[in-house]
Amino acid sequence: MNAAPLTRPRVATRRGPAGLPRLLASLREDGRAESARSHAHRYGTPADATRGRALIAEVEASGLAGRGGASFPTAVKLESVVGGRHRPVVLANGAEGEPASGKDRALLRTLPHLVLDGAVLAADAVGARDVVLALPGPAGVERASVEAALEERRRHRLDLQVTIRLADVPHRFVAGEETALVRYLNGGPAKPTFTPPRPFERGVGGAPTLVNNVETLAHVALIARFGGDWFRELGTSAEPGSVLTTLSGAVRRPGVYEVALATSFADVLDAAGGLTRGISAFLVGGYFGSWVRTDDALALRFLEADLKRHGASLGARAVIALPDDTCAVGEVARVARYLASESAGQCGPCVRGLDAVADALARLESGDADERPRLARWVSMIRGRGACRHPDGATAFVASALDAFAAEVDLHLRYGRCRNTVRGVLPVGGGERR
Ligand SMILES: Cc1cc2nc3c(=O)[nH]c(=O)nc-3n(C[C@H](O)[C@H](O)[C@H](O)COP(=O)(O)O)c2cc1C
Ligand code: SF4
Repeated sequence: MNAAPLTRPRVATRRGPAGLPRLLASLREDGRAESARSHAHRYGTPADATRGRALIAEVEASGLAGRGGASFPTAVKLESVVGGRHRPVVLANGAEGEPASGKDRALLRTLPHLVLDGAVLAADAVGARDVVLALPGPAGVERASVEAALEERRRHRLDLQVTIRLADVPHRFVAGEETALVRYLNGGPAKPTFTPPRPFERGVGGAPTLVNNVETLAHVALIARFGGDWFRELGTSAEPGSVLTTLSGAVRRPGVYEVALATSFADVLDAAGGLTRGISAFLVGGYFGSWVRTDDALALRFLEADLKRHGASLGARAVIALPDDTCAVGEVARVARYLASESAGQCGPCVRGLDAVADALARLESGDADERPRLARWVSMIRGRGACRHPDGATAFVASALDAFAAEVDLHLRYGRCRNTVRGVLPVGGGERR
């Protein structure tokens, strides 16, 4: 077992439950990008009734929440940049700094027109003329795919009312945070800033900026065609629609899947061919997420409300199945070190705190000292003390690991190790592209 499947994310979907696939409906068998012609043939142009400001009402009716991690209501965001003195800018966030996630790359690579459509329709809705599409850097296949799509759109004389600019974002965990993106696009380093102002108040070039994840915008493109009621046919009334999730670890077919919200966790795993071996726990929500023990996870639905009962969240919707022959404590210590190294190095509690947490986890792994009391204290001291949510997410990940792997930690403290080895099931960035 290693992280190889994540270095070659592939998009897969399965038929059913009713209504799926949606985002992935026009996926080509060969994995190549959908053409403008095929996209236009499938979707046509949105009706006037769902264009411009009317689209905001439709998005509100759909109940769409952001797919970038925080699940913020998209209609509220759209509304927040409308009506000010300055013309807003749309920033489509495809940076995807989370190593456990491949969904945004997959979308950019295979369905660039859906993302571009969503961004252009959002721009039309809020009165923006400038769209910036943030891509995962260094420039690779995603950029090539989007550039080819833009060229096609120019030939078809689409998007005449907007200017679309592409930006390659440094491959760092915090670079996709919205204030970091804005700072980078304004000529600074890709590091978060203290708020206010938030991007919707002052963002790219000082203009009010709508920052949306690329998957969120792809859903907007579909809502503009099929409407809010259609969107609500999947999921629950509080959490409607479908989401893209990146499944990896001990699943038979790792990759990016589209699932209806409220699908049982067991069915989600089934879509990926099931598990390849025994699992000690699932990491749900990527590295800002939480560990959920196997029996608990299999009884859940893919839904924030269900995960909340376990102190977890869907977050970036990356799920890793950790095999039970893998050293959980060592894997967690590795990720803690990675997250410490990904601090943007500008807020004391984040820089020093996350380093200290990673050191303490290393001592726990080697059985040198029972660092649990100190870790618990630091975790509560670090939380909420940075310009961005990086320290909060990293400490939540560590706290939930100590909880879920209490028995494994005991083994390390008693024997200096456990029976298992660290296999690198949890990918760490290291600047590599996936
Ligand atoms: C440390 C950190 C990293 C983030 N990285 C990303 C990212 O790579 N892509 C993304 O879409 N959102 C990321 N976000 C969330 C963005 O700040 C922002 O909330 C999101 O792009 C808004 O889009 P949405 O409302 O469509 O979800 C990150 C947040 C934090 C705190
Ligand atoms: S909290 Fe950490 S990652 Fe966030 S801005 Fe401060 S130093 Fe950077």
